[in-house]
Amino acid sequence: MKKILVVNPKGGCGKTTIATNLSSYYALWEVPVALVDCDPQHSSLEWLDQRPSDLNPIVGVDGSKGKLNLKLCRTGCCGCPCADH
Ligand SMILES: Nc1ncnc2c1ncn2[C@@H]1O[C@H](COP(=O)(O)OP(=O)(O)OP(=O)(O)O)[C@@H](O)[C@H]1O
Ligand SMILES: [Mg+2]
Repeated sequence: MKKILVVNPKGGCGKTTIATNLSSYYALWEVPVALVDCDPQHSSLEWLDQRPSDLNPIVGVDGSKGKLNLKLCRTGCCGCPCADH
């Protein structure tokens, strides 16, 4: 499993833009993608909510609580790259 960390302490420098574009790119090529949003603003999860459902799936995970909420991965999603599968 490949993990890409997008991190920068500076606000508004393009973290969400990079993370959502990378997620879209890999999903387009049918690579299973989990997008973990560690920012309490949840910008990328809000983006995911608005993403058309007919596109290849991206699993959103709220990582802002300090511990990854992998419950989302047990709700019947397919192609999730987490350790639960
Ligand atoms: N490569 C780029 N060129 C020009 N504008 C960009 C680029 N990447 C991002 N932006 C713009 O910069 C703004 C901030 O981007 P983004 O929200 O991705 O940053 P962020 O680091 O996630 O911000 P925050 O710290 O608030 O979470 C947005 O309006 C976005 O469209
Ligand atoms: Mg952001």
